[in-house]
Amino acid sequence: MFFLVYLSSAVTWFSSKELNDLLNTCRQRNLEAHITGMLLYKDGNFMQVLEGEESAVRKLLARINADLRHRGLVVIDSGHTAQREFAQWGMGFVDLQGDTHALPPEYGEFLGTSLTDSSFSQNPEHCHKLLRMFRHID
Ligand SMILES: Cc1cc2nc3c(=O)[nH]c(=O)nc-3n(C[C@H](O)[C@H](O)[C@H](O)COP(=O)(O)O)c2cc1C
Repeated sequence: MFFLVYLSSAVTWFSSKELNDLLNTCRQRNLEAHITGMLLYKDGNFMQVLEGEESAVRKLLARINADLRHRGLVVIDSGHTAQREFAQWGMGFVDLQGDTHALPPEYGEFLGTSLTDSSFSQNPEHCHKLLRMFRHID
């Protein structure tokens, strides 16, 4: 199983409707391509993990990279794992600007940290740790 984690910044902040539209596209298309993962959004920045067959993930990344709704996409980590970490999701999604009471207590560690902060961009492990916190959130 191949995985890839990237960070990017929205060109203009996404409204809830825009995020919903984006998610609908992601969920439908990722299901067809057997891609799972998690998308986080906070203060105009995205963090996404994609997992699936390597060629399918790379093809999707190229499409996402060409999307004019965001910019500055940087791949933070990629590699192979024995199994999917986000198997139950087509594409999980958490809006971290939302009600933080609904977020796991461990999230407190990253509460004040922007997704594009160097503590994420220079530490892939922090990205994995954050993404994993939301593995079981519906
Ligand atoms: C932050 C971000 C994450 C995205 N994630 C996905 C995704 O996981 N799957 C997907 O199919 N499209 C995703 N998209 C949307 C694609 O960029 C693209 O708009 C969509 O796949 C439709 O592609 P098409 O217009 O070439 O058909 C994402 C876009 C953004 C801005």
